Amino acid sequence: MKPALIVLLLAMLVFAPLVWSAELNSTLTASLRKRRHKKVGNGLGGTPPMGWNSWNHFACGINEQLIRQTADAMVSSGLSRLGYRYINLDDCWADSSRDWQGNLRAKSSAFPSGIKALADYVHSRGLKLGIYSDAGYQTCSKQQPGSLGREYQDAATFASWGVDYLKYDNCGNNGVSPRTRYHVMHDALVKTGRPIFYSLCEWGQDNPATWASNVGNSWRTTGDIADNWNSMVSRADLNNQWASYAGPGHWNDPDMLEVGNGGMSVEEYRTHFSLWAIMKAPLLIGCDIRSIRKDYLGILSNWEVVGVNQDSLGIQGRKVRTQGSTEVWAGPLSGGRVAVLMVNRGYMGWSINANWQDIGIKQNLRVTARDLWQHQNLRYTYTNGIRAYVPSHGCRMFVLKPGG
Ligand code: GLA
Repeated sequence: MKPALIVLLLAMLVFAPLVWSAELNSTLTASLRKRRHKKVGNGLGGTPPMGWNSWNHFACGINEQLIRQTADAMVSSGLSRLGYRYINLDDCWADSSRDWQGNLRAKSSAFPSGIKALADYVHSRGLKLGIYSDAGYQTCSKQQPGSLGREYQDAATFASWGVDYLKYDNCGNNGVSPRTRYHVMHDALVKTGRPIFYSLCEWGQDNPATWASNVGNSWRTTGDIADNWNSMVSRADLNNQWASYAGPGHWNDPDMLEVGNGGMSVEEYRTHFSLWAIMKAPLLIGCDIRSIRKDYLGILSNWEVVGVNQDSLGIQGRKVRTQGSTEVWAGPLSGGRVAVLMVNRGYMGWSINANWQDIGIKQNLRVTARDLWQHQNLRYTYTNGIRAYVPSHGCRMFVLKPGG
C-alpha cells in the first residue's frame, strides 16, 4: 500500500468518530436543543433529583419511624448507590398550629423526636432530607399552616433543622398568581446560606417553565398523578410541551413516580420509568420501598435507564413522532450518543421504527445500539433507522452510538 494511502486511512480512523459525533450533536442540537436558561444560584440539581417522597403511597399517614425505615431501605436495597438520595416528607408532617414564636413545628404524635433529629438520622445514612410547605395560608391537606407571608421565618427553620430540599405547594393562595408568591421563598432560602433544592409545585398553573428557571430547581408541569396508565401518559404529554425549557439546575416535573404501587402492570411501570428518565424528570420514588416487590425494584434499579436521566448534557428528550398509537421519543446524550424510546399505547403489540430523520441523526450514519432493558448490545449496526417490536403499553429503550 502506498504511504499516502496509509496516512489517509490512519487519519480517517482517528478523525471519523469525531466527525460522526459532531454530526450527531449538531443535527440534534439544532432540532432538539434550545437556549440554556438562567439558573438558580444554589448550584443544586445539575442532574434531575433522585429520591423518595411520602405522598403517593402514604398520603397523611407518615411518622418518624416510617421515614427512618425508608432511609434504611434506601441503603439496604442498593437504591442509594444508584443515586436515589433524597428522603422527602410531603404534607402532614407539621402540627396544625405554630409555636408561640410563630415557628412551624413537627406534629408531636407522629414526629416526637422532631425534624432536626430525623435529618441527623437521614444524613447519618448518607442521604438527604426533604420537607414540604405551601405558598398559601394552608397546605392542601388543610392539616398544617402554609408559609405565605412567613417565608423567611420558615426557610430559617428548615435550614436550622438541616433540611436539604423543599417542595412548595400551591393550596390556600387566595387567588394570587404563582409568579408573585414563589420567588419570595427562593429569596428566603438563599438568605439562609444553606443549599436547599427548591421544588415548585404550582401544577403548571401559570406555565412555570416560562418564568421559573431562575426561581426554582424544578417545577411541576401537571396536576397530581394517579396510579394508572391514562393518568401517567397524560402527564408525560403535558410535560413534553415544555421540553426546551429544562436544563441543568432547572427541570420540568411531571410529578412523582407511581412505580411499585400496584395500579399498573410491570410493562406499564417500565414505560412510566423510561418516559420519566428520557424526559429528565425528577426520579422520586412514590411506593413503600421497605416491602417493595423484586420486579418493581428491578425497574427502579435499571442503572442504564437511570444513566439516561442523569446524563451530564441535561437535555430533555421529547416525543419526535406519533403514528397511530405508537410513539418515538428521543434526546441527545453526552458523547454524541442519542437516547431513543419507543412506546406503544395501543392494545396490540406493534413493530415501531425510529428513523434517523425523526431523531435528528444524519442520513446514512452508521450507529450501534444498546438495549437498556435487555442490557444487551445489538449485533448489527444501523444506517437509517432502528425497528423493534413493542408490546401493548410497553416500551423499548436504546442508546445509539455513532460508529461501529
Ligand atoms: C398537592 C400536591 C401533591 C401533594 C398534596 C399534599 O395536591 O400536588 O403532590 O403534595 O398536595 O396534600
